[in-house]
Amino acid sequence: RMLKRQMPCCGDIHRLNAPLLAIYESLIPPEEERTKQKQILALLEKLVCKEWPKAQLFLYGSCANSFGVSKSDIDVCLAFNEEINDKAEVLLKLADILQSDNLQNVQALTRARVPIVKLMDPTTGISCDICINNVLAVINTKLLRDYAKIDARVRQLAFIVKHWAKSRGVNETYRGTLSSYAYVLMCIHFLQQRRPAILPCLQGMEKTYSITVDNIECAYFDKVEQLSNFGSPNKETVAQLVWGFFNYWAYGHDYANSVISVRTGSIISKQEKDWTRRVGNDRHLICIEDPFEISHDLGRVVDKFSIRVLREEFERAAHITQYDPNPCVKLFEPY
Ligand code: CTP
Ligand code: MG
Repeated sequence: RMLKRQMPCCGDIHRLNAPLLAIYESLIPPEEERTKQKQILALLEKLVCKEWPKAQLFLYGSCANSFGVSKSDIDVCLAFNEEINDKAEVLLKLADILQSDNLQNVQALTRARVPIVKLMDPTTGISCDICINNVLAVINTKLLRDYAKIDARVRQLAFIVKHWAKSRGVNETYRGTLSSYAYVLMCIHFLQQRRPAILPCLQGMEKTYSITVDNIECAYFDKVEQLSNFGSPNKETVAQLVWGFFNYWAYGHDYANSVISVRTGSIISKQEKDWTRRVGNDRHLICIEDPFEISHDLGRVVDKFSIRVLREEFERAAHITQYDPNPCVKLFEPY
């Protein structure tokens, strides 16, 4: 009997459910973090308002899309009602203003792909990146948050996937792996594809929210409180979904021909997007369409080396979730 208990319980994916949920619970930020975030935002608003009375500040990214784990940095967008040609100038001015208050490590990174000011608030210990006029990011943050409200399994799956990606070193765009934003879109797409579906395609429904930003119409059904039972016909547990997710990316996805698209709630062809060959640095080795900037492939950072790393990691994760006797340790083992 002892021996039997120590044997890996192959094929019984449910053994993973309670431990995965426990990991998810442990990653959820405590309510006091939200209070601290609001505190920083209020402080920044006070400082920015003196210089630019018409500008607005928005939170975006994981601190606002509900996929943020405990102790994340916060992302802030400083939005002007006009186009800013010289962002460097504004960022340097902003850094100046923030420096003179008692914020620490204020740094303007004017030459980054997305130019930002970085800072640390000593009262809360929270670090913060401020960018300018990145309103699309504010809108896609709302889209992700709205998807998360529909079914509890969205956040559960995405937290586990993000935690796995960070532990395994495959959440580093500067090294050719994927952003957190890309992983969350992969999860949403995956849940749209389940049968019965766990998530609908909000951009394919009646448009109850619509805004045009940078000449892009961003519109979708955002009355998601009406969809709170949408996923309930599907009884899959988070363990089954985690297993299914890794299996899909290890063995089910057609990397040569397919693009995943949350916008359409389906797979579309690379042909259709003209993403069949390398253009400049965009190799399209794994294709993830941005829901609003549809010419934007979030997989464009992946190169011929990192695609192998990624696919091996998906295979490793699929194998562990299915066969390993101690999957919750192995899955998140530092690389
Ligand atoms: N973003 C984007 N396009 C990208 C990458 C990011 O629009 N190619 C925006 C998204 O709004 C995203 C935000 O920038 O939510 C922050 O991106 P990222 O750091 O990838 O995600 P976080 O959700 O902040 O994740 P983490 O918990 O790792 O900080
Ligand atoms: Mg972030």
